[in-house]
Amino acid sequence: MKSRALISLMADGQVHSGQSLASSLGISRTAIWKQVRRAAEEGYEIETIRGKGYRLVNPVDLLDGNGILEGIPEAVRRRIRLDVLDEVDSTNAEIIRQRPGPGSSVIPVCIADCQTAGRGRRGREWQSPRGQNLYLSLGLTFRGGFAMLDGLSLVLGVAAAEALEALGADGVGLKWPNDIFLGKGKVAGILVELQGELEEGVIQVVAGIGLNVHMRKAEGVTQAWDSLSVASPSVDWVRNELAANMVNSLVSAADEFSASGFSAFRERWQRRDIFSGKPLVANQGDLAGLGAGIDDAGNYLLDTGQGLTPVRAGEISLRVQP
Ligand code: BTN
Repeated sequence: MKSRALISLMADGQVHSGQSLASSLGISRTAIWKQVRRAAEEGYEIETIRGKGYRLVNPVDLLDGNGILEGIPEAVRRRIRLDVLDEVDSTNAEIIRQRPGPGSSVIPVCIADCQTAGRGRRGREWQSPRGQNLYLSLGLTFRGGFAMLDGLSLVLGVAAAEALEALGADGVGLKWPNDIFLGKGKVAGILVELQGELEEGVIQVVAGIGLNVHMRKAEGVTQAWDSLSVASPSVDWVRNELAANMVNSLVSAADEFSASGFSAFRERWQRRDIFSGKPLVANQGDLAGLGAGIDDAGNYLLDTGQGLTPVRAGEISLRVQP
């Protein structure tokens, strides 16, 4: 974002004269005018008030690497390497490009203000407009082979839900396997991608979370979605604070999962299950039953009337019966 310094000065939403902005940034008033135009091109709505100056119409919530690091407890902070980018194709792709060498214990974390090719599950696009949401990925290494991936995906959903609740979100729900709901709409999604196998039984994964924070409109999204500021307006959602809590919660959950496996997360996941007791179909309609929570491996259970049938994590999607 080329106009970052200007936007930081105007973030308070007050009217700022061209002269005061020019002296704060040490540039001419003409240069300020050019930056205002550039900021408008980048998507910021700036009102020009004749004879008085400029005002940002909507408040901005800027990402700041130091601000994020300050909010992460020391024990986790010293284990991560944080990159905060203005723009990237996909934070997941960036972590894959940065892939640490074998033997490195650093956890790479990438956060971007916008993504030009944000990716969702099942090859879908993830809408990633500038300045409004959180796009965060981290690289994690586990012992245990590919079989643990299904459980991991659910564990990260629990961690994300707990991070939001710690900041004041009320009524966070999980939709199997790891969509995060607030009220009736999805506010966040998680994409876990395998980076590769280092040696027998040691896998590297990239886990990316997209969290709608201030977004109010999104074109082309068919699923019911929401954002934190809309679904939970009584909380003052700040992206740096959300990022810090999210990183801390995801890293802590990954540690707990590595040490103790999935069982400690089962009840924490189930407590938030939005499908519990609902009539559901899976396997493209071949299987129907009532939502009955998850088993020890993270499979979703359908009560078909003839017993509990597991639906394997990662393979198929569940939907409420029409
Ligand atoms: C889903 O479809 O529900 C998962 C969405 C995951 C989106 C996040 S945004 C940060 C990271 N980078 C990506 O390209 N995707 C994930």
